[in-house]
Order: sequence, then structure tokens, then C-alpha cells
Amino acid sequence: MALLDVRKAGDPVLKEVCKPVEKIDKNLKKLLDDMADTMYENDGVGIAAPQVGVDIRAIVIDCQDDHGLIELINPVITFREGSEVDTEGCLSVPNIFGEVERAARVKVEFLNRRGKKQHLTATGLLARCIQHECDHLEGQLFIDIAQSIHRGKDD
Ligand code: NI
Repeated sequence: MALLDVRKAGDPVLKEVCKPVEKIDKNLKKLLDDMADTMYENDGVGIAAPQVGVDIRAIVIDCQDDHGLIELINPVITFREGSEVDTEGCLSVPNIFGEVERAARVKVEFLNRRGKKQHLTATGLLARCIQHECDHLEGQLFIDIAQSIHRGKDD
């Protein structure tokens, strides 16, 4: 287990369009493990590789639902339907929240860590999280597209 440093808004890596993963090797699997550890340690529901300083197309998500931990390599959202506005936050933008419009239902295709092609249809929080994390791979933060932004209550 290793915890990684979470990059914060203003770090140039968060603005990069990330590169496709070419090879699923030991290094990538270790990165996915460390990303999951870092997400859980920070009470996040998702984290994208650029948030830990690596500009590749890899995401981990755990919305505490039946899906459990999901690892998405080279994810592509192939279908979007409906729209919903809800509040989002991000480990890279601490103590800031915003109202963001997202598709209500999405289908995403990706590779798992065995290199097997997977697809997943999601609604609700999981759909929102997939869209938020895929945006990170395009160098976009939720504060770039939020309808409104507010500060959280200080602890
Ligand atoms: Ni985020």
C-alpha cells in the first residue's frame, strides 16, 4: 500500500489531455492499487491518474455501491442520456463544491487490469462519477463547467 500525493488545481498536470495506456504491466497495476489506496484514504469516490501526477487514461471509482471498486483503463463514454444537476466536489479542489449538469445515464467502455474489454451502464452517482473522472483525462475540472460554486463549511 502506498499513498500518493494528490495534485491540486493550478498544477499543470491537471490541464493535460492524458495519453492512452499502451501496455497493462506491473507498473500500471501498482499505480491502480496506489490510486485506490489514495482515494479511500481521502474519502473520495473516484480518482483519475492525472490527480496523482500521471498523465495516462486510467481511473478508479468506488461509489460504495454494488459495483465496489471499478478500475477503468482507456475509458470511453459511448452513450449519454438525460440530464441531472447535482453537487460535486473533487480531491484536487479541496473544500469547494459546485452544481454540475451531467448526463443522467451513461454507457462506458474500458479495459480492466487483465486487458479485457468491459462495458458498464450507470445512473445516479456512479454515472456522475464516471463523467467527472473522464473529464479529468481531458484536462477538465468540475469548477470549469459548474453552474455555481460554493465553499464548504470549514471543519
Ligand atoms: Ni475530481
